[in-house]
Amino acid sequence: MAHFQRPTGVLDILPEEQPYWEHVQAHAVHLARRAGFERLDVPIFETTGLFARGIGASTDVVEKEMYTFTDKGGDSLTLRPEFTAGVVRAYIENGLHVRPQPVKLYSIGPVFRYERPQAGRYRQHTQFNMEILGESDPAADLEIMLLIADLYAGLGFRDLAFQLNSTGCPLCRPGYTERLKEYYQSRLDEVCDDCRRRLGQNPLRVLDCKAEGCQPIIEAAPRIGDYLCAECAEHFGRLREYLDLLGRPYTLNHRLVRGLDYYTKTVFEVWAAGIGAQAAVCGGGRYDGLAELLGGPPTPGVGVAAGLERIIMVMKAQGVSVPDLPAPSVLLAHLGAQARREAVRLADALRRAGLAVWLAFGERGLKSQLREADRRGARFAVILGEDELARGVAAVRDMQDGAQVEVVLETLAAWLQERVG
Ligand code: HAM
Repeated sequence: MAHFQRPTGVLDILPEEQPYWEHVQAHAVHLARRAGFERLDVPIFETTGLFARGIGASTDVVEKEMYTFTDKGGDSLTLRPEFTAGVVRAYIENGLHVRPQPVKLYSIGPVFRYERPQAGRYRQHTQFNMEILGESDPAADLEIMLLIADLYAGLGFRDLAFQLNSTGCPLCRPGYTERLKEYYQSRLDEVCDDCRRRLGQNPLRVLDCKAEGCQPIIEAAPRIGDYLCAECAEHFGRLREYLDLLGRPYTLNHRLVRGLDYYTKTVFEVWAAGIGAQAAVCGGGRYDGLAELLGGPPTPGVGVAAGLERIIMVMKAQGVSVPDLPAPSVLLAHLGAQARREAVRLADALRRAGLAVWLAFGERGLKSQLREADRRGARFAVILGEDELARGVAAVRDMQDGAQVEVVLETLAAWLQERVG
């Protein structure tokens, strides 16, 4: 017999995990809606060119991590490795740019990257994504950062570190990259092979290198903050002023460059303690050139995406509890053929009345059915026997204290509703 296993690097999310998932998603959606964000769903796959163009051909995501395939019609398609490119494509294609600006959009769903799996890093993960399109005010960057901070605070997180940087714009970044390359040229024999390669293709990424030998070189490297043009410096200054005004702590991290090419000005990540090497629970920033790059009108944008698997890992590591999912209110137990028929009818009637009902299947003794009521967490067990049926009543047992009463069948739905809401 064939024995199938799930592919490497993906997860099954079992029923006992679902209280975390429901709680986190409900909280995220609540915050987004309250701040005026509307939901946008984009397809799970897009034409490959969208990501190559939008994210950047020399990024790790595009070079190594995309799930790309040719469909039966001969088109090259890719499972989305993130939301932003697809969201901006949809914004342009559906004319959202002619609506009153800014447009605030949130999305939630699976994202695919062929990465080396480890704790907190999967080949399919779930992102909660928010974008503000059509607004260049640093207050929009602030809003995105505050929303994500509120998400974690509301979930009960502790020990989070906000990492913040500005990566400049097409005006000032080239000057900085030239300086960085010059600096590295004089130290080529001291840095790792990866950095030598990155320097040719995507120089900013050298700042992200984890190799031990490269650390002192990165520390002493020129910092982008010293090379920002007047506009970028003023934008960053205002964002920091707002954060200070609100007393929101952050770490200025001149090494933070992010792995996607579309960023301009603000970039940030939130790191959580206690979940190992994959500590970024979200990442985001501004991407003022992306819409134009994808063939749309010039449109500033800023956004963030949070990985839900990592959020849930942190919640577990920090002992944050979540509410249980609702259990059935009522288990319907029955004894004898006639009572079983009546139980089938009653289950249907009670469900139509809006009650959460678990009907006992098969023919079992009362003890076994009551054990099941207990296991399922039912609040009441409704017991139908031939004798009760003949009198038009059901025995109702309160599973919390074991007290038992008889209730007339016609009034049973109302009786139960009054008690379980
Ligand atoms: P990103 O930093 O590539 O940004 O991903 C966002 C978040 O997704 C990460 O901080 C992490 O929590 C989670 N994540 C990423 N890769 C994995 C993985 N392999 N396994 C588990 N979790 C993962 C973006 O995707 C940008 N589109 C964010 C953005 C939106 N920027 C502007 N708007």
